[in-house]
Amino acid sequence: MKITKICCIGAGYVGGPTMAVIAQKCPHIQVTVVDLNEQRIKLWNDPDVNNIPIYEPGLSEVVAEARGRNLFFSTDVDKAIDEAEMIFISVNTPTKTYGSGKGLAADLKYIELCARQIARVSKTNKIVVEKSTLPVRTAEAIKSILHNTGNGVKFQILSNPEFLAEGTAVEDLFHPDRVLIGGETNAEGEQAIQALVEVYANWVPKDKILTTNVWSSELSKLVANAFLAQRVSSINAISELCEKTGANVNEVAKAIGMDSRIGPKFLKASVGFGGSCFQKDILNLVYIAKSYGLHEVADYWEQVIIMNDHQKNRFAKNIVTTLYNTVADKQITFLGWAFKKDTNDTRESAAIYVADNLLFEQANIVVFDPKVSYAQILSDLTYLGSRTEAENKEHITVASDPYEACKGAHAIALLTEWDEFKTYDWERIYAQMNKPAFVFDGRNLLDKALLTRIGFKYQAIGS
Ligand code: NAD
Ligand code: UDX
Repeated sequence: MKITKICCIGAGYVGGPTMAVIAQKCPHIQVTVVDLNEQRIKLWNDPDVNNIPIYEPGLSEVVAEARGRNLFFSTDVDKAIDEAEMIFISVNTPTKTYGSGKGLAADLKYIELCARQIARVSKTNKIVVEKSTLPVRTAEAIKSILHNTGNGVKFQILSNPEFLAEGTAVEDLFHPDRVLIGGETNAEGEQAIQALVEVYANWVPKDKILTTNVWSSELSKLVANAFLAQRVSSINAISELCEKTGANVNEVAKAIGMDSRIGPKFLKASVGFGGSCFQKDILNLVYIAKSYGLHEVADYWEQVIIMNDHQKNRFAKNIVTTLYNTVADKQITFLGWAFKKDTNDTRESAAIYVADNLLFEQANIVVFDPKVSYAQILSDLTYLGSRTEAENKEHITVASDPYEACKGAHAIALLTEWDEFKTYDWERIYAQMNKPAFVFDGRNLLDKALLTRIGFKYQAIGS
């Protein structure tokens, strides 16, 4: 079966970039991305392509090339479903905040709504592709909803998890390490798998397209994120030991990473990992293990999260201790709020938790992030529920210029590794700060020798 029309439900960090790249690489396929969020779709359609709602290096160029040619963004979900032969579900699957599995399980209500809508609207056979990260065996639930419509329409369900990382989404989509497609192990399943293989084969070498059964594919996504996050928590655990012993975590990471069995990637000690995926997916893995009664397995993986929470908290505590045990009414300037560089995404960013800790200590926080708005920062903090929005507003402000942000600060906390922070005039920043002028580098980004020479009291992670 040759696919000519694709619909993607969900125009977020995954749906948007993934479909833009499919459309750019497959001019013969019409790709329509739909979302209930009218504002988001409006921005995807903004005549000025720089206003698209997601900041990713290289994304606006891809959108500019394909949009209006074979890439469309719309709120008409029914029409796009009706027309498509293949439907990607790329809606959010956050951690449940209510009911059974609260705080651990993935909330599948958005997925179920999609499945019901597809079941209601479809008049012709469809291939439904799970692009969202889903707990093992979700395809079974989707199948059950779709197959009970009674109108004779046939559905094939594939799992095709996305491995892109934010900040490098376009590059990751252009040159994926692998594309994973899980499907049913029968003739119809095989046909559906092949239809999706053919889409990717337009730009991905066939030997990088891996096909498995549905459950292996769903589980592999959770496991990949758990392994990656585990490396970060492992090196962060060692960072604390380094601080106590005089070893340097950068040196340790380099030394172990040169062992080809370990490898050099994902060994950067930091203030803690953030992002919408790592915590959510590990919690989900923990929940699945628990639900099978595998308590040791659950505890093993939960430790990755416990270590990460510890790393964020101890970073904040160290600021308070170093500033003579009080930050009340002192100005702490945050450089960076996003959970990593080159993205405007702030979900689960370490900065949120560090700020929350410091606000409990009555600090005044000024934030500068090149891509994150004040409204987003406030909403991230208010979402935690530690205090009202009005109280947050009183103690947290933003500056549109980094030098303004640092003026009058008692300390700078660097939370995101934006490249531009390295290029600042640190002499100028020093001159305008309260003395002693502290810098807490949560990303080991800045030049310690330079900052110390200028006069800063500089502290990094793990040394
Ligand atoms: P997101 O919140 O940015 O986007 C999801 C979009 O789906 C939202 O715009 C929302 O309005 C829309 N939506 C929800 N229900 C809908 C419905 N019934 N009909 C139409 N639109 C609907 O989320 P995201 O970051 O793109 O993540 C989507 C999925 O991809 C998640 O399962 C996530 O775990 C997975 N994932 C994310 C990343 C990442 O880096 N962000 C990477 C790999 C996988
Ligand atoms: C992750 C996975 O990498 C990706 O494959 C999956 O599809 C989605 O989840 P993402 O969350 O976008 O991607 O970013 P990632 O680069 O993995 O970083 C996650 C967090 O870990 C960030 O806060 C980052 O700063 C932190 N990190 C990463 C470290 O602290 N040290 C490292 O060495 C690597």
